Order: sequence, then structure tokens, then C-alpha cells
Amino acid sequence: MKEIQIRDKKFRVLISSDKIQEGISRVAEKINMELKGQQPIFICVLNGAFIFAADLLKKITIECEISFVKLASYYGTTSSGQVKTLIGLDENVKNRTVVILEDIVDTGLTVETIVKQLGIFEPAKIKIATLLFKPEAYHKNIKVDYAALEVPNDFLVGFGLDYDGFGRNLEDIYVLVP
Ligand code: IMP
Repeated sequence: MKEIQIRDKKFRVLISSDKIQEGISRVAEKINMELKGQQPIFICVLNGAFIFAADLLKKITIECEISFVKLASYYGTTSSGQVKTLIGLDENVKNRTVVILEDIVDTGLTVETIVKQLGIFEPAKIKIATLLFKPEAYHKNIKVDYAALEVPNDFLVGFGLDYDGFGRNLEDIYVLVP
């Protein structure tokens, strides 16, 4: 199996681009059916979800909007240390159906933070769609509504996911070779 090198680490293909597109198509079909008539607003969480969002939205046939946000980290003066804030949300999401687009849901901490902060703007409902889902690592109660692919609890790169900033442009998804 062909290995690639990113920085100091080796990776091999885990999921081919064909399989990724099949997973995205399944999610798109479900969303097209379940959210028809609701004019959802998709919120792409940068940087990782940009390729997933682009490919998914091409397969969405219902009326919808898309917006982009980022989770910015800063170190507050609180004892908890790192605080993450949602930035870039300029559309009014009040009483709207919102679909959060994530690259990967791992422990669920990121998604939980986003759901909490979006909740302040009083959307009608919040759905979560992710390209990848690590069920073994996930330990939150929030429902992951749409997952294109379930993956093992390993470190992955490609299709938007990075290692040290690199590898996001890869068409397939790669796993770290131990
Ligand atoms: P969580 O908060 O633990 O669910 O992690 C979510 C975030 O961690 C993702 O949006 C990614 O940025 C990053 N992440 C988690 N697992 C991986 C991985 O296997 N490869 C690259 N980034 C990951």
C-alpha cells in the first residue's frame, strides 16, 4: 500500500475519494428529504469542513443558505484557561433550521461548544452533519444527525483534515502509520 509523508509522519490511504463521495451523497439525500420546506442555513466550521461543505452543498437540491464560521481560541483569565468563541456568524439564525457542518466529530467537545454558542441566537432547531464520526471517542449527549462515514479512533488527514496545517488538500482520507 502506497504511503505518503507529511512533515515527520507517514500515512496510508484509509478511505478512497469514491467512498467519501458515496457517504456524502447518502447524507445529502437524507437532508433533502428531512429538511424539505425548512430553508435550512448550513454553517460550515472552518477550516476543516470546507471541502465537505462544498461537495455536500452541490448535492443539496432544497432551498438553503450557507454561511461560514470559525472557532477562535484565546486564553482568558478564567481558571479553565482556553476559551473558544464562534466568530463570523452574520446571518440571522433566529427561528431557522441550522445545520452545522463539521469535518470530524471526535470527543464532541467542539460540536458541544458550537451548539451552546449558537443556541444564544435562538434557532428553531440545530442539526449536526459531519464528514467523519469517531464513535469510540465520542462521549457527549448531543445527537450527531448526519455522519457520512464512521471511522476508527486513529489520527486521520485529507479531505479537509490536517496534520500541522498540511494535508487538507488530499482527495482521499489517510491514516497515520504507527
Ligand atoms: P472534538 O472536539 O474532540 O470532537 O474534535 C474535533 C476537532 O478536532 C475537529 O474539528 C478537528 O479539527 C480535530 N480533529 C479530531 N480528530 C482529528 C483527526 O483524526 N485528524 C485531524 N484533526 C482531527
